[in-house]
Amino acid sequence: MGIAGFGTTQLRYDMFDLARSADEARRLTKCANIYHRGQELAWDGRDVLGELLAAHGGVTIDPARRRALERVFAIIMWGELAAWKISAQLADGLVPLEAKMAATSQAMDEARHFYVMRDYLAALGYRPTRMDRAPQALLDLVLDTPDLARKLLGMQLMIEPMALTIFQSVRELQVEPVITELMRYYERDEARHVGLGMQYLPSLLAGKRRGEVRRVMVFQIRLLFWALAELRVLAPDFAVLGLDPRAVLERAQRKQIAALAAAYEQMGIPFGRDRSLASMSLAAAVELAFPAGDRGVAARLRAAYRAFVTPVEPLPVDELAVHAAHPIRTARGVVAAGEPIT
Ligand SMILES: [Fe+2]
Ligand SMILES: [Fe+2]
Repeated sequence: MGIAGFGTTQLRYDMFDLARSADEARRLTKCANIYHRGQELAWDGRDVLGELLAAHGGVTIDPARRRALERVFAIIMWGELAAWKISAQLADGLVPLEAKMAATSQAMDEARHFYVMRDYLAALGYRPTRMDRAPQALLDLVLDTPDLARKLLGMQLMIEPMALTIFQSVRELQVEPVITELMRYYERDEARHVGLGMQYLPSLLAGKRRGEVRRVMVFQIRLLFWALAELRVLAPDFAVLGLDPRAVLERAQRKQIAALAAAYEQMGIPFGRDRSLASMSLAAAVELAFPAGDRGVAARLRAAYRAFVTPVEPLPVDELAVHAAHPIRTARGVVAAGEPIT
C-alpha cells in the first residue's frame, strides 16, 4: 500500500516494458482485436429481447417443457453472473494492455448476458432461487481461485465451451422461438471469450514452473468432475426438452478439447485426449455416469477402463467456428455477418 504517493501502487508502470516474443506479440494483437470487435458487435439486449418477445407474442411453450427450460437457463443465468465477476477479476489482474482490454470487453458482454437472461426468465415466469450444489461448486472453484491461469482455463476454456454446447443444442431444438433466436447472439459473444482463453493462457502458463503447471492440470480435473456432476443434475431436464444428455456431454468435450488444443498448440505442446490425464479420466467417468444403453455395474466398469486407455480420434477442427458464424444485428443498427473465430 502506498501513502501520499510513496511506496507501492496497484498501477503497473512496467506494463509497457514487459518483454514479449514475436509469438506473444501476435497473440496479444488478437486480444486487442477481441476488445475492438466486442465494441463493434455489441448488441442492445433491451431491443433484441423486446423485439423477439413482440414478434413471437411472448414466450410460448407447454408447461412441462417450460419448467425444464427454466431449470437449465436458471443455471445459465447464475453462470453469466459468475462469468461477469470472473472477467472483471481478470480485467483487474491481467497486466498487458491488450489482455486487460479483452477481459474488460468480456465483462461488458457478460453484464448484457446476465440482464437479458434475467428478463427472459422473468417472461417465462421464473423467480430466481439458489442453484443446485454441483454448478455452484464448479463456478465457486473458478471464482475463488486467486490464480489467473486457473481462472482463464476454468472460465474461458472449460465452462464457456460447455455453455456454448447448451446454447447450440437448445437453438437446434427450436424448443421456443425467443430463446432460439437469442442463442445466436449469445454464441457470437461467447466465441470471442473462448478466443481470449486460447490466445492468453499460454502467456500465463509460460511463467510457471513445471510443478505449478501440473497443479493447474489437477485443478482442471476437479473442474471436469464438477462439470460432469452438473450435467447429471441437468440430465432429466435435457431429456424433457428432447436432448440426449450423453450427446450433449460429448459435444461439450469436443468443444473443450478444441479450445484447449488451440491454447496448447500456441505453446508448441501437442494436445489430444490420448495425452491428457484429465481427458482420460473424464472419458472413464463418462462411461460410469452416462453409460451408453442400459448397462450393469460390471459392464460400466469395463467400458470405463476401455475409455481410459483408448486413444481417441483426431481433434475436431471447426467445432467452435459455428458460434462465430451467426449474423447478428448490432446496437449500431447494422447486420454483422459471421466471421472466423479469433
Ligand atoms: Fe456469457
Ligand atoms: Fe462468456
